[in-house]
Amino acid sequence: MSTACSPLHAPFYADHATFGPAEVLENVRLAERTFRMRIAAPAMAERIIPGQFLMVRIAGWNDPLLGRPFALYDVVRNSSGQLVAVDFVYLVGGKLTTALARTQPGQTVEAWGPLGNGFPRETECDALVMVAGGIGQTPFLAYGKQQLGSAAYGLATAESPPKKVILCYGVRTAALLAGEQDFRSAGIDLRVASDDGSVGRHGLVTELLTEALAEAHGARQLVVTCGPEPMMERVAEICNTAGVRCLASLETPMACGIGICFSCVAKIAQPDGDWDYKRTCVEGPVFDAEKIVW
Ligand SMILES: Cc1cc2nc3c(=O)[nH]c(=O)nc-3n(C[C@H](O)[C@H](O)[C@H](O)COP(=O)(O)OP(=O)(O)OC[C@H]3O[C@@H](n4cnc5c(N)ncnc54)[C@H](O)[C@@H]3O)c2cc1C
Ligand code: FES
Repeated sequence: MSTACSPLHAPFYADHATFGPAEVLENVRLAERTFRMRIAAPAMAERIIPGQFLMVRIAGWNDPLLGRPFALYDVVRNSSGQLVAVDFVYLVGGKLTTALARTQPGQTVEAWGPLGNGFPRETECDALVMVAGGIGQTPFLAYGKQQLGSAAYGLATAESPPKKVILCYGVRTAALLAGEQDFRSAGIDLRVASDDGSVGRHGLVTELLTEALAEAHGARQLVVTCGPEPMMERVAEICNTAGVRCLASLETPMACGIGICFSCVAKIAQPDGDWDYKRTCVEGPVFDAEKIVW
């Protein structure tokens, strides 16, 4: 059965995840407190699709003992075209990310993935608007490239037809804008808003969304969003009013990443009108925004 159309059913669950040590190949600064780490993980790179994530921990450490989830930023090929590595981008905020920032190429981390459902490959839309706040831009480089038809992920051979892809990216201040060049060189129409006016529009990222939806009025549109929950809730409201489908990628704290501990649950509306807890790590992180009980 093809499951590509539904974000709630991805072809790759934790059963297909790899686990093990991965050599750090690069760890480069992108912005203030923000780094891109490249790890050697060929089997993961072959399977992972945009919107899925990997768990990362430092081998042998007990503080933190648990891994942390990071979205796929992109996969990397060698000069022969073979998939060899996975990139993720992290904002330094707590114990693990502080330790990651000190990690040097040649050292190893432990990583497991791909995990979660990911974004749908077949979207039946002409215009994709991605809305990110904070560190929520990380899943959108690979997804934008896939939807523009310039890259294929996860054993997929057929590529999506080219379409208009916009990223509305809100940051607190210019110094935190991470990966601008990556998005622009991928052909993604990047529009930035900042709280302090130091870069892009002085205002909220949702203002950029409203404009983007108005521009593409009449076209088949899809909105995807990732970032702080109040922002995603507002994005969902705007889309609901505009009659545009919206998918949200939740960043709920996780302990295992593989469906065992139930530390990552979110309230998701059910067909009978009630809601139920769903595990963000296996039934998400991507959910239909209208089903999320914020
Ligand atoms: C599917 C998924 C994908 C993610 N992708 C990325 C990514 O690409 N890049 C990135 O930088 N981060 C990402 N995150 C968030 C990241 O996993 C957490 O911020 C992680 O806790 C950082 O680990 P740490 O040990 O440095 O901080 P911790 O010590 O775990 O936490 C530091 C502080 O942040 C708070 N916190 C922890 N997790 C969260 C959370 N999810 N939301 C809000 N506050 C939190 C803690 O309460 C604490 O105050 C993702 C989360 C999920 C679920
Ligand atoms: S993180 Fe353990 S069930 Fe989701």
